[in-house]
Amino acid sequence: MNDLLMSSESVSFRWINCQCFEIRLPNGKTIITDPCYDYKKNPDVPLANLFRLEGFKTEDLEGCDYVILNHTHGDHISNLGEVIERFSPKVICHSGVAAEIAEVYEDMELTSVYAVDYDGTYYFDGFKMETFHGEHKPQRFTWKRTMAEGDIISQDPRLTRLHALGGLFNMNYLLTFDNGFRMAFVGGTSDGMDERLRKLRPNIALRNKIANDMDTEKAAGEWYGFMEQSYAQFVVPMHFEVWENQNPGFSEKTFDRANQMAAERGLNCRILAPKRTRWYTVKMNICCR
Ligand SMILES: [Fe+2]
Repeated sequence: MNDLLMSSESVSFRWINCQCFEIRLPNGKTIITDPCYDYKKNPDVPLANLFRLEGFKTEDLEGCDYVILNHTHGDHISNLGEVIERFSPKVICHSGVAAEIAEVYEDMELTSVYAVDYDGTYYFDGFKMETFHGEHKPQRFTWKRTMAEGDIISQDPRLTRLHALGGLFNMNYLLTFDNGFRMAFVGGTSDGMDERLRKLRPNIALRNKIANDMDTEKAAGEWYGFMEQSYAQFVVPMHFEVWENQNPGFSEKTFDRANQMAAERGLNCRILAPKRTRWYTVKMNICCR
């Protein structure tokens, strides 16, 4: 029998929708990633409605000292304006989109836009951020078509150019909190992150949906592959709200199967099937027996 001697909190987080997480750091500061949840329904494009989380509002966020953007497509920034209005956070984004962010959200103080570049290291109150080149999954949209079509998710004409730039600039990153806990954020294609993770060794790796297949065995195999390559203790999937909205229960079955594969093959990494908006706390425990 093990007796729990002591416990120390590493980080708390919750997956809200798409690539939007609320992350509470050990020093009490809060990071919101890619804010997108409850945007207006689009009757002309049913596909655009699959990325919504009905009923979650900006008022439901508990805090936001920093926003970090992976890229600026509509399903990553639809609620950014409201978040800026409510919390006046620092918005950390790639320098390729920084001027456009400042122009669209024109009431924001210019120094609240924090432009970063690839392969940089940046220091904030409560965490260090290391940035890496990211790549969007292939999309057959030209600049011309994107500008003509606009952003079908937010349906906000002010976001058209940011939406187009979202196909060009995509940024992955590693956050190291003051207590040394490391969280990696990987969107889009692998783009070398598998190689980098070998050295970064995050405690937790957040990863967007790897493939769209609705075949449990195949999808679980792909997730198992990432678990192996992540060198993380835990993988937390994101951007699988489409699965949740189309086929509730599929993701849980898939992630359970991936965990079973890991257990069978002796891999000491587990994948969490997060419930949207539920808080999760990671703790380090010391037990004795
Ligand atoms: Fe995107």
